[in-house]
Amino acid sequence: MSTTYRIAPSLLSADFARLGEEVRNVIAAGADWIHFDVMDNHYVPNLTFGPMVCSALKPHARRADGSAVPIDVHLMVQPVDTLATAFADAGADLISFHPDASGHVHRSVQVIKSKGCQVGLAFNPAQPLDVLDWVIDDIDLILIMSVNPGFGGQSFIDSALRKIEQARKRIQSSGRDIRLEVDGGIKTDNIRRVADAGADTFVAGSAIFGQPDYQGVIDAMRTALA
Ligand code: DX5
Ligand code: ZN
Repeated sequence: MSTTYRIAPSLLSADFARLGEEVRNVIAAGADWIHFDVMDNHYVPNLTFGPMVCSALKPHARRADGSAVPIDVHLMVQPVDTLATAFADAGADLISFHPDASGHVHRSVQVIKSKGCQVGLAFNPAQPLDVLDWVIDDIDLILIMSVNPGFGGQSFIDSALRKIEQARKRIQSSGRDIRLEVDGGIKTDNIRRVADAGADTFVAGSAIFGQPDYQGVIDAMRTALA
């Protein structure tokens, strides 16, 4: 498995009145990716931001040396394909969607790939991984939800650990280089357990943006992972 861990702060818990600054600050604090939660008040009971906000933030997603920090778009929306296309045009680097939100999962995967983005599939806590039987050769990322999607600040659901183990086995048997990302309730005190189950990429919203010292939290997460 990949041993290069990635930490992806979720802007859902950032200060929406200062989003550009929040992106710059969390990158200066060591963020590897910027996680961008798109909610439509339909697939999930909450409403966040659209492609115009993504494109406005794109220039802020750079390190001090000028290198780009990937924007990791997590679509919790229906329909998938039109918004995925809009986010690709808005500068998304990775786009994940929930297979149960798409009537034609394989087509949605191809739409995202055709726009030059990496593609991920996101799995809700009670959803099985079966669809991977048919699309694992086409995707770049598996996103395991360890809370029900819609809100930040929820508690980690322990059954996600078993699902992470199962997803890791599927990645190993595919022989492909696929990231295994976990989203929801990740803190400095559980990130090690989640990594031990097989995850290599960690979304954290409230754990990072809920503290004044972003770098302190990200450093503590890296220490726990080391
Ligand atoms: C929930 C979102 C998460 C959320 C995680 O639907 O997908 O990315 O921001 O927030 P925390 O880390 O606070 O659980
Ligand atoms: Zn998310």
